[in-house]
Amino acid sequence: MIVMSETIHVSNLQQGYGKTVVLRDINLSIQSGEILALIGPSGAGKTTLVSTIMGMLKPQQGQVTVLGQTMPNRQLLAKIGYMAQTDALYEALTGRENLNFFGAMQGLTPGQLKQQIPHAAGVVNLQQDLDTRVQAYSGGMKRRLSLAIALVSDPELLILDEPTVGIDPELRQQIWQELHQLATKGKTILLTTHVMEDAEQADQLMMIRNGAAIAQGTPKHLIAAFHVDSVEAVFLKAGRQQDENNRYI
Ligand SMILES: Nc1ncnc2c1ncn2[C@@H]1O[C@H](COP(=O)(O)OP(=O)(O)OP(=O)(O)O)[C@@H](O)[C@H]1O
Ligand SMILES: [Mg+2]
Repeated sequence: MIVMSETIHVSNLQQGYGKTVVLRDINLSIQSGEILALIGPSGAGKTTLVSTIMGMLKPQQGQVTVLGQTMPNRQLLAKIGYMAQTDALYEALTGRENLNFFGAMQGLTPGQLKQQIPHAAGVVNLQQDLDTRVQAYSGGMKRRLSLAIALVSDPELLILDEPTVGIDPELRQQIWQELHQLATKGKTILLTTHVMEDAEQADQLMMIRNGAAIAQGTPKHLIAAFHVDSVEAVFLKAGRQQDENNRYI
């Protein structure tokens, strides 16, 4: 039996760049074995929030803990599989060489790499292209390689910033199968997305808009609470309510 414990805790987070405030009073808790999807319009602050959780940005106010440690914390990076919104790959190297390099950075031994690369590449259907240089990859292939890199060390926590961009529906389903399986094994997954089908697959949703969390809970709970029939409708209704509330302030 897997005992649930809190993997990510964000309390009263205010975050931004310089004097600009992008996120206000964000509170969030993700348990091990849970998948949380962060949704919100472009520019809402999704990447800012995941970068803060990763420890790449220091909170302006409030606190972030990951696996019980206050972030930023360099040592914890080895336990997090991270896929950035913008691919950071070595174009002159092959897919396999990229996986070897980033896997070694995560602390994998050559033996472990040999064992785990085929699995990670298999999840994203890249087995046939592993020995091609990344500069000859399509945009979607680069996204898939970035996802394989996040998966290769079998980390306790996955943080995936728009992992399904450029991924076709069939492969998207295969990726979701893997994510659900990882969650069943007790791994924690935080992802951002603009795709409602992805949001519906998550255990928990957090919608951010204009710097604030406007709705939070399981997809089922939110659909019931907002008296609508889809996650998309929740998102639209929560957005309208936020606009109405702001009008009276
Ligand atoms: N490095 C930065 N310096 C200054 N402002 C930034 C920086 N990065 C992001 N911002 C601003 O912070 C806000 C939130 O950006 P962020 O990238 O977090 O949004 P997002 O929700 O991830 O959007 P998208 O869906 O387009 O990826 C935007 O107004 C953006 O212009
Ligand atoms: Mg983003």
